[in-house]
Formats: sequence, C-alpha cells, structure tokens
Amino acid sequence: MTDLRELYQDVIIDHSRNPRNFGKLDAADRITQGNNPLCGDKLTLYLKVDENDLITGVSFEGIGCAISISSASLMTEMLKGKTLRQAEELFQAFHGLIMGEKTPDQDAGLGKLKVLEGVKLFPSRVKCATLAWHMLHAALEKTTQPVSTE
Ligand code: FES
Repeated sequence: MTDLRELYQDVIIDHSRNPRNFGKLDAADRITQGNNPLCGDKLTLYLKVDENDLITGVSFEGIGCAISISSASLMTEMLKGKTLRQAEELFQAFHGLIMGEKTPDQDAGLGKLKVLEGVKLFPSRVKCATLAWHMLHAALEKTTQPVSTE
C-alpha cells in the first residue's frame, strides 16, 4: 500500500534539496508568478522562447514544499529544447498523471515525472505538485495574471 514515505522517493528528495534550474533567468520573455493559498508558498517561473517557438531557457525560484519544488525542478529539466506545443502536451500528460486520468500514450513521454504519480492519492498534495505546471500553462498562454492553485 502506498503511504507518505513512498511519496518522498529519492528523486523527489534530491530535486527538492538541490533544485535544478533554480534562480532568476534575466533573458526571460515570459515570467509567471504562482502561489498555493493553502500554505502561502510562492514560485516564479521564467521562460525564454525563440522565434521558432522553441524553449531555449527555463528556470524558477521561490519558496515551496518538497513536492512543489521537486515538481518544478523536474519540469524545468523536461522543458529545455521543447517547442511550445510539446510543452503543452507535457502539461496535459502530467496533469493526467497526477489526476489519475493518464492515457498509455501520454505515459510514454513523462520519464522521471512518473515519480510524482503517488501524489494522486493525496488530494492536498495535488496542488503542490501542479503549482509550477499551472504556471507553465499560463506562460504558454501568455497570461500575465498570477496563478493560484485555489
Ligand atoms: Fe505549499 Fe506544497 S505545502 S506548495
């Protein structure tokens, strides 16, 4: 049976303690802020997109729990070199994974992100895992409003 300990697997712990692509991206042309009102945690996502809709730079910064930070860190690793369309497909696939609605097709491209699948059993943690992803979705749509997981 899955419990909270299994949720905090090595990959999640590693990415929460040593988040990849952490910090401000000065060259960013899309910046999205987000927060989880339940806990007050806040993140900022930076994207740099070139004229061919390719994500050439991505980073994030802020304060969050192990799940939100590791999810953001894993997300940034996956986004580098993707097109905006591929990033949207990744968002949809990850959202399906966390909500327990994934299709076998979507599962294939998720890679390391699958370590977060156990979150679906903990509804309050779903908001943590999806915070950065909702920010990504807003950035893809060029929404300037801050994102709240409320
Ligand atoms: Fe704040 Fe998870 S407890 S984002």
